[in-house]
Amino acid sequence: MDEIRIFSPATVANVSCGYDAMAFALGTLGDEMYFRRTSKKKVKITEITGASLPFEAKKNAAGVVALAMLADSHADFGVEMEIHKKYKPGSGLGSSAASSAGAAFAVNRLLGDVYSELELLRFAMLGEEAACGSQIADNVAAALYGGFVLIRSYDPLEVVSIPTPPKLYATVIHPQIEVSTEEARKVLPEQIPVQTAVAQWANVGGLISGLYTNDYELIGRSLVDHVAEPYRKVFIPHFEKLRKVARAAGALGCGISGSGPSVFAFSKGENIASEVAMAFDKLYSSTGIDYQLYVSGIGNAGVKEIDS
Ligand code: HSE
Repeated sequence: MDEIRIFSPATVANVSCGYDAMAFALGTLGDEMYFRRTSKKKVKITEITGASLPFEAKKNAAGVVALAMLADSHADFGVEMEIHKKYKPGSGLGSSAASSAGAAFAVNRLLGDVYSELELLRFAMLGEEAACGSQIADNVAAALYGGFVLIRSYDPLEVVSIPTPPKLYATVIHPQIEVSTEEARKVLPEQIPVQTAVAQWANVGGLISGLYTNDYELIGRSLVDHVAEPYRKVFIPHFEKLRKVARAAGALGCGISGSGPSVFAFSKGENIASEVAMAFDKLYSSTGIDYQLYVSGIGNAGVKEIDS
């Protein structure tokens, strides 16, 4: 294979209670990227649209991943890439993860599929480190594997794919302000009381159980976060009101997407998810803050090849 065009999904990390351990991919929102082999053994970013990101490969999440993979595999070729961002970085929707996972998937194809999915995840985590200072696996794993993922362990790295209930839909509001993941991680306490930990892991168990058994109400009740949300919600204008109107419109539950500022809600069925979008729209339209709204099924395919 000499060239490949891909779609790499936006992702919602944490899913409220699963800080750094859970995430899911969106079905309809994501970036497009194009990669081709070149005879010069270099990584060159030829075009970036939709965001202002570094062209220098070693400063760009996708570039860092491609450089690491070409070096590790002793490839006798280089790569040129185009990155077409469909939503802003700093959104809490895994923008750097979409770039990193997309590069890992595409460069592996150009190399002849030499790496396993877990190896691709390790490469993609290097892109996350370049973009936000830590090797976080949740967003990149959801982008690569698709659907819901649980990072069962970071050392050794282990990812478990969790089934998606067929009627589960997400509504996402993305206020057009930027929250740096690095900064949003610094506000969290280094230690939490054991009662908080108990409440948190009980909700993770409830969420996993609900996803396996299609128990939509249990999924909704489990979207409670005692670890990150209390410290991060202050960065999101009208967060509590968003949750209130989502519930009133019929959502199962609502939480911060990744490190914010995006907020997601789950609903049973696309119609209710659209009602929730209308409720978000009504609330935010009077705030003077720009925003984007998305209603999407869960992206069970993850990164995928698309037609050139
Ligand atoms: N789990 C990470 C965090 C995701 O919440 O900081 C970053 O988008």
